[in-house]
Amino acid sequence: MRTDTPLTIYRKDYTPPTYRVDTVEMGFDLDPDLTRVATRLTMRRNPDSRNKSLVLFGDSLELVQLRMNGKEVGKRGYTLTNGVLEIHNAPEQVTLEIETATHPNQNTSLMGLYTSNGNFFTQCEAEGFRKITFFPDRPDVMAKYTVMLRADKSRYPVLLSNGNLVEEGDLGDGRHYAVWEDPFKKPSYLFALVAGQLVCQEEKYKLQSGREVLLQVWVEEGNLDKTQHAMDSLENSIRWDVERFGLELDLDRFMIVAVGDFNMGAMENKGLNIFNTKYVLANPRIATDTDYAGIESVVGHEYFHNWTGNRVTCRDWFQLSLKEGLTVFRDQEFSADLIGTESGRAVKRIEDVRVLRQAQFPEDAGPMAHPVRPDSYVEINNFYTVTIYEKGSEVVRMYQTLLGRDGFRKGMDLYFQRHDGQAVTCDDFRAAMADANDRDLSQFELWYSQAGTPHIKADMQYDAGIRTYSITLTQSCPPTPEHAKKQSFHIPVAVGLLDRNGRDMPLTLEGQDNADNGSAQTTLVLELKEQSQTFVFTSVAEPPVPSILRNFSAPVVLDVEYADAELAFLMANDSDAFNRWEAGQRLAMRRMLALSAAVQGDHALSNAQLDEGALGNAFRATLRDTTLDPAFCELALTLPSETVVAEQMDVIDPHAIHAVRVFLRRALASTLKVDWLVAYQSNRTPGTYSPDPVSTGKRGLKNLALSYVLEIDDADAHRLAQNQYDNANNMTDRIAALSVLVNSTAPGRDAALAHFFEEFEHEALVIDKWFSLQAMARNTDVATVRELMKHPAFTLKNPNRARSLIFSFCNGNPAQFHAVDGSGYEFWADQVIALNAINPQVAARLARTMDRWRKYAPALQEKMRAALLRVASAGALSKDVLEVVTKSLA
Ligand code: ARG
Ligand code: ZN
Repeated sequence: MRTDTPLTIYRKDYTPPTYRVDTVEMGFDLDPDLTRVATRLTMRRNPDSRNKSLVLFGDSLELVQLRMNGKEVGKRGYTLTNGVLEIHNAPEQVTLEIETATHPNQNTSLMGLYTSNGNFFTQCEAEGFRKITFFPDRPDVMAKYTVMLRADKSRYPVLLSNGNLVEEGDLGDGRHYAVWEDPFKKPSYLFALVAGQLVCQEEKYKLQSGREVLLQVWVEEGNLDKTQHAMDSLENSIRWDVERFGLELDLDRFMIVAVGDFNMGAMENKGLNIFNTKYVLANPRIATDTDYAGIESVVGHEYFHNWTGNRVTCRDWFQLSLKEGLTVFRDQEFSADLIGTESGRAVKRIEDVRVLRQAQFPEDAGPMAHPVRPDSYVEINNFYTVTIYEKGSEVVRMYQTLLGRDGFRKGMDLYFQRHDGQAVTCDDFRAAMADANDRDLSQFELWYSQAGTPHIKADMQYDAGIRTYSITLTQSCPPTPEHAKKQSFHIPVAVGLLDRNGRDMPLTLEGQDNADNGSAQTTLVLELKEQSQTFVFTSVAEPPVPSILRNFSAPVVLDVEYADAELAFLMANDSDAFNRWEAGQRLAMRRMLALSAAVQGDHALSNAQLDEGALGNAFRATLRDTTLDPAFCELALTLPSETVVAEQMDVIDPHAIHAVRVFLRRALASTLKVDWLVAYQSNRTPGTYSPDPVSTGKRGLKNLALSYVLEIDDADAHRLAQNQYDNANNMTDRIAALSVLVNSTAPGRDAALAHFFEEFEHEALVIDKWFSLQAMARNTDVATVRELMKHPAFTLKNPNRARSLIFSFCNGNPAQFHAVDGSGYEFWADQVIALNAINPQVAARLARTMDRWRKYAPALQEKMRAALLRVASAGALSKDVLEVVTKSLA
């Protein structure tokens, strides 16, 4: 914690480290109140560095002893200011011995070494290692680690660290030890240790090369019935990385450990991944289909980091997306490949784009907007963002779209050939892609350096005389905090043309030689590089309906003036499933914006307004089309979220948006009542629960149908939901039923909520759902949330629990959060301030809720600003929170 103005770190100031570290030996005497750490570093001066002082970082550390080349360094031999330890005039070769002490039990930040339910865990990314010992804690310093853990044997029977277990034994007086050696050099942020009472599911796994490896999933006792899915996901990940990228596991042993107190999703520590329990524990009783999918993708994500992040790491934290964007792309492709079907891939793509639009587009348009490779930061933990991760993944995906799958693979191969064992930059990755394919990707760099979501306007013209069809694409990008004016991006725009029967036309682009291409293509990737470019298709026999930005080929906003009828046509016919979904969303968005304007003009909403549009018909057609994949139907029949609609308004009116969305859902519920009931009945999945894509899709559609039926809120609807709640054999169906009951006037509502709590009282992850569901319920207001905070099961100290109630309310219940009296904002300020004292990272995340305050009506804006100012002037603010609120108010 600090109250002075925090320092901004700039990318342009990067200099190589003055000293390299060859080996790190650490000895831990683990004690929850006071843990002593003895560290021995062998270091040598970097010949490239002109600066001679040896710089180490420490944070909240007690320095007990410091020895250099066998001699104690006295108080005059070093300076220690603001966590920077500088030893002046150190020789070229240095052996440094450092003794530090930390207090794991008091560490509520969950960075560095901390305890959770009595066990020890670490989190070192980005800068947590410096809370364990003084170290040149920066990713471009890579070293080999040997770690000895010592602890009480009965209290901490399991002692784990990175790499291989090389020795273990008893120390007498009830203590024991274990020595771990990591054969690979790594940056300090990948260090990890775990100690405590844990049990594991383990398996010997034979790699494609024939080598056998040990796989383990460690959990607290009582959770071994919840590890199978994580283990399956790990095996699938190992297999997939060899098949798709030729990358094999380089270790003899790979461990996953689940911990209930964790700031993020999971962490890719070398050979010892540490996970939030949310992304490990699953069985049908406690986990939903969404949880199962989340586990698969996060297990994949962390495993894939072993190559993209660990073997090749980042030169500095500005390059974070080098590993995160790439690894998100890899986990997205992994999940898509596991589903296997074409429609399954499209469903996955739509889900990923939904996240981008829901969270990243607002970020890119707000006060925290930053490029995929930022130029500056105050607190690096604030830059683990949807821009770095999800937009970063889109940027990586664009290479594949431009170069093709094979070209992308060639680029990956060259990347590893050049950089294995190194700490590199986003430019190095781009160079590998360009060089392996002999392509000029210099303009592509702008995706890394310019923030903001580009807009593309598409204008079409058909010339019947010469049978040409031209598409003019014009790009622009709104200003963002760092750049007012933007240069033109290099944007792949995938295009198809539909004939009057809805079939894809074969495409010939003027000036392009399609002669040697036997079968005509029906989707072409246009490369937009200028501000405006016209692409002319020849031999177009009739005026087509264009399908633009197929499969969402670039992270942009596409403006096309489609008529309602064209959208309905695309929704029914486009061979590109993404654009079929997109057409429906455009149609719905159009209605929602028009109705919001009507509500604001004090016009009553009536069903006539639904029928005016093509929306009801389009929904009916989708519901009745039995050839469609249920998972796709569910997405197509889900209206754009209130947050996504809000982003489309010049002045956000959360109450109008909410009223409209509820109105539309009710109207669609009654107009299509019979169809919803049919969908409900025909998508039941009787028998044993299985989280496979087909069953998941059916449950998704069935439960969406249930939620529409419940909008009718009559006794029949109540019975349907109550029945499902009572008879569910899995959490997906149970929580879906509970959630619609809670939003209804069903007589069994309160009893179901109470029953659910009792039934799952000892399953923390399920109790999180119980809080979250209530936080997002339509009639839950600020007072109700404050009441829920008094529940004995609530605590701010556990990030999952804090997120389940507070974040769910502030971010997931906009109509109530934006209460006109400003009580939601006051609640927000109270919680940011309270969390700041416990866990700055979690507090700073919550602080982001206010990002878009300038977009709201003046009356709300004033109250939001007041709440922001209250936080900004609170005492002892962490630099995490300070950076967020300062940028918000700027
Ligand atoms: N590298 C981790 C992942 O994406 C995220 C860890 C971030 N942790 C943090 N404290 N900022 O898998
Ligand atoms: Zn990651």
